[in-house]
Amino acid sequence: MKKQKLRRSGARIMASLILLLGSLAYIMILAVINGSLGFVSAMGVTVFGALGVAKALGESVALSYGLIIGLAIGCGVLRGLLRYFEQYTNHYIAFRLLAVLRDKIFGALRRLCPAKLESKQKGSIIAMITSDIETLEVFYAHTISPICIAVIVSVSVLIFVGVISSWYLALVALLAYVLIGIVVPLIASKRLKASGVRYRTEFSSFNAYFLDSIKGIKDIVLNNADKEREAEVNYRSDILLCETKKMKHDTTKALAFTELAVSISIIATLVAGILLVANGILTVGYMIVGVVTVFSSFGPVIAISALPGNLTQTFASGDRVLNLLSEEPAVKPVENGERIEYNNLKVTELSFSYDRETEVLTEICMHAEKGEIIGIVGESGCGKSTFLKLLLRFWQKSHGKIEYNGVDIDNLDGDSLLDNVTMVSQVTYLFDETIEDNLRIAKPDATQEEIETACKLASIHDFILTLPEGYQTEVGALGDNLSAGEKQRIGLARAFLCGSELILLDEPTSNVDSINEGIILKALKEQKNKKSIILVSHRESTMAIADRIYRVVGGKMYEQTES
Ligand SMILES: Nc1ncnc2c1ncn2[C@@H]1O[C@H](COP(=O)(O)OP(=O)(O)OP(=O)(O)O)[C@@H](O)[C@H]1O
Ligand SMILES: [Mg+2]
Repeated sequence: MKKQKLRRSGARIMASLILLLGSLAYIMILAVINGSLGFVSAMGVTVFGALGVAKALGESVALSYGLIIGLAIGCGVLRGLLRYFEQYTNHYIAFRLLAVLRDKIFGALRRLCPAKLESKQKGSIIAMITSDIETLEVFYAHTISPICIAVIVSVSVLIFVGVISSWYLALVALLAYVLIGIVVPLIASKRLKASGVRYRTEFSSFNAYFLDSIKGIKDIVLNNADKEREAEVNYRSDILLCETKKMKHDTTKALAFTELAVSISIIATLVAGILLVANGILTVGYMIVGVVTVFSSFGPVIAISALPGNLTQTFASGDRVLNLLSEEPAVKPVENGERIEYNNLKVTELSFSYDRETEVLTEICMHAEKGEIIGIVGESGCGKSTFLKLLLRFWQKSHGKIEYNGVDIDNLDGDSLLDNVTMVSQVTYLFDETIEDNLRIAKPDATQEEIETACKLASIHDFILTLPEGYQTEVGALGDNLSAGEKQRIGLARAFLCGSELILLDEPTSNVDSINEGIILKALKEQKNKKSIILVSHRESTMAIADRIYRVVGGKMYEQTES
């Protein structure tokens, strides 16, 4: 099992998460005030009751019975109202923050995309967006304010008991708070922290494996590997269950210790009260008021002792989310760089390696002029797709130059680059929306006519018309029924629609029959004067439309001369 260590300390995670609050901190303060006053009101009901009893026992209490009962009822009503506002403010912050966090995570993924995402397991990202963020909700709504409330309420109670009853009783109460709210949680947290992190790690690893298995289920069945997969899923599920049990076991044990600490504290307070009365330091009436006040004040510190179970998971989740937010992209984005209108491309002595060791491409040179169709051929795995990705700056080149209109790609504005260059990759992803929406991501304000023209060029228009609702057909409703070639042609239509000057095509016709290939190639050729194209393909037939052809061999690129 992979062990995941937290990169930051608990305190640092908490501090960073609180910093994310920003202007919501004011609402958090309001929530704490509401919570503290609410709890004091709840105690008020019991304390005024005890004062009534003290008065009945002959103590001098300045309040009338009527006023005492009225105040007790008032406290009860106030408690309800304050509780409502406390919950309201806490959840308002929590859910606002969830939205902010989701936004930040999407932003971080966008920054890291696509280079770093090739290495991140998709399942663990999904776990992060769903369960980790939900866990953080618990932190904001049910962790920060309980701690503040416990401190405020405990200090108020100590002062109240000291002044109205006895400072000795206050001292006993202080020791009880330290025991319940600090000593027990500290002892428990070490164990809980370890089991919490292990549980989270197993949970996300199981999710990733399960999701992967569902995605690849066709290949599992085809390879007759379902028994092994099922056994592995069961095995991993057992590990997860085992970790869950351990975590629950530790949590329950910590709860039991807290209960024990509370019972000991109650007995100690009572004994102290009786001793004080026996020694004539305190009257029975005010002893009752003091002891009852202390009894009713354990709630907030018990809430703290229940935190470690949540907190350890929160720290693990917080750490993972903060890691993602602070992760540096493989390529530094260029903002406010030079803007261009594509005219030509010149690549000089370009080298690149994914792992900084083995070079995939070595000192390659090529050029492309406006209106040209450039073909790139080479064996599978020789680096053709890598070359196209470098032209879009998906990865940072190691050496050499990639110049558009004489401007190196590292100085080119990121948006301007994507406005000028687009790519149809080997696999086209279709969103679970209508066909039209899927096309529109290339140009949101495209007219119906533009969309249809692009689809005709990509030789997919007639097929779309045969669908039950034409362009309005939901891709999801088709299930996986679109063929690879149809998806590929939709990808091509996107490229035609988006209006970029230079189109990079990675095996655009690999899944298309020769009739459709002919139509697409004809369309590409017709675009020739309007668009520039760099075309990667294995097929000789595809290369027939190229003006010039480069061949990639052993990491080098050679221009083919006609023989
Ligand atoms: N993200 C990555 N990290 C590390 N290595 C990679 C990555 N992507 C590709 N490679 C490796 O780089 C080499 C070139 O891959 P590339 O996809 O560019 O080949 P290709 O010429 O497009 O092959 P094909 O014709 O099969 O599509 C391969 O050895 C591949 O395993
Ligand atoms: Mg490829």
